[in-house]
Amino acid sequence: MRISVIGCGYLGAVHAAAMTSIGHEAIGIDVDEGRIRLLSGGEAPFFEPGLEDLLQAGLASGRLRFSTDMRDAADAAVHFIAVGTPQQRDGQGADLEHLDRAVEQLCGVVKPGDLVVGKSTVPVGTAADLADRLAPLGVTVVWNPEFLREGWAVKDTVSPDRIVVGVPVSSGEEISRGAPTADGLRAADVLREVYAPAIEGGTPFLVTDYATAELVKVAANAFLATKVSFINAMAEIAEITGADVTRLADALGHDERIGRRFLGAGIGFGGGCLPKDIRAFVARAEELGRGSALSFLREVDAINLRRRERAVSLAVRACGGSVYERRVAVLGAAFKPHSDDVRDSPALDVASRLRGLGARVTVTDPAAIDNARRTHPQLDYETDLDSTLNDADVVVVVTEWDEYRRGLSPEHAASLVSARAVVDGRNCLDAAAWRAAGWKYYGMGRP
Ligand code: UDX
Repeated sequence: MRISVIGCGYLGAVHAAAMTSIGHEAIGIDVDEGRIRLLSGGEAPFFEPGLEDLLQAGLASGRLRFSTDMRDAADAAVHFIAVGTPQQRDGQGADLEHLDRAVEQLCGVVKPGDLVVGKSTVPVGTAADLADRLAPLGVTVVWNPEFLREGWAVKDTVSPDRIVVGVPVSSGEEISRGAPTADGLRAADVLREVYAPAIEGGTPFLVTDYATAELVKVAANAFLATKVSFINAMAEIAEITGADVTRLADALGHDERIGRRFLGAGIGFGGGCLPKDIRAFVARAEELGRGSALSFLREVDAINLRRRERAVSLAVRACGGSVYERRVAVLGAAFKPHSDDVRDSPALDVASRLRGLGARVTVTDPAAIDNARRTHPQLDYETDLDSTLNDADVVVVVTEWDEYRRGLSPEHAASLVSARAVVDGRNCLDAAAWRAAGWKYYGMGRP
């Protein structure tokens, strides 16, 4: 099939490359010339394992192209929209400016019978608005949310957990109300063809109305954020009762209804999705007059932000009551390992707060230093782990890279620092091993 992908960030670049890997022809469109130049040369503009191989294979096959000119999307019959929907600068809701611009430009190139398939995360109601806008052009809108995790984007795109497709449904006779219209059925069939290899491999394919498809995405992210904040709330209670939240999570996780995944207590969630998506979800519920249904998400956000402050206070305690003029080695800048993304990174927030208290902070990270330097130029960075640890008064681990979890021996680290104190902001170190090597170990929600 001939496919266009509008927006070549994490979502779009991976999607375009993945589409060619399963036999389609794809053109990726983005307004950012630098990004298009890199992608056209087979280079990933961000750290994403497996993406460059996929890009290079796609480009070599001749089925993958990139362009800044929307007119190059005119040959495609299926147009995926994968532009960003960041948090508004002056509010909690989603900023739909990129989406609006993409659709406006797309209106100039689509043909009757084309499908426009939204993948971006949007406030519920957006798909119906776009459908009204595109109907006069004979174009059907489909909402097909993406659930990819950074660091696993290629796998999550090629073999997703589920494929959700929101199509137009009938609003007429009661008997058919909610059932896909003829256009909706046809659109679902086209998407079945697009995703044929995954469906043949057993991926569930769910056809819904627009609102349900839009909600699946934000509800999934709200649930994940809630799960992380739930265990972090338990960490707060563990801290005053002497319990160990990691053992608590292990015990809870044996209950299949709960599960152990996403019960990692620490400095909480960040990144380009979870924080802004839960805020936008609350803002949308308020617009709809149902703010009370999601008011708990405000608390989820508040718990999450409190954990950053907790890591800072542990570092202060480790330094004997003040970090002023003390050397703090911060291990990690990315919002999670296997990523160079520093958007809303808890790691950099902790580093900045420590610097705000007068500490002499040095940050290291295996992948995210360049991005961190751009967003947090006030911090000092060091690529070499040993140099970061040199003469440190306290070590603060804020991203659970393997380089720190497994790669850093407490004995070796002890030979470099000036005081053996470590704050494990991700509960990712072997506490017993660090203590055995003479370290004062401070975990999150652990004695
Ligand atoms: C998330 C969703 O998982 C994905 O489905 C959606 O499409 C986009 O948002 P991502 O932002 O890549 O993906 O990160 P994810 O792996 O979900 O982690 C989110 C944050 O939660 C990270 O900051 C991570 O460190 C934190 N987290 C995760 C915890 O603090 N504890 C955990 O147990 C798990």
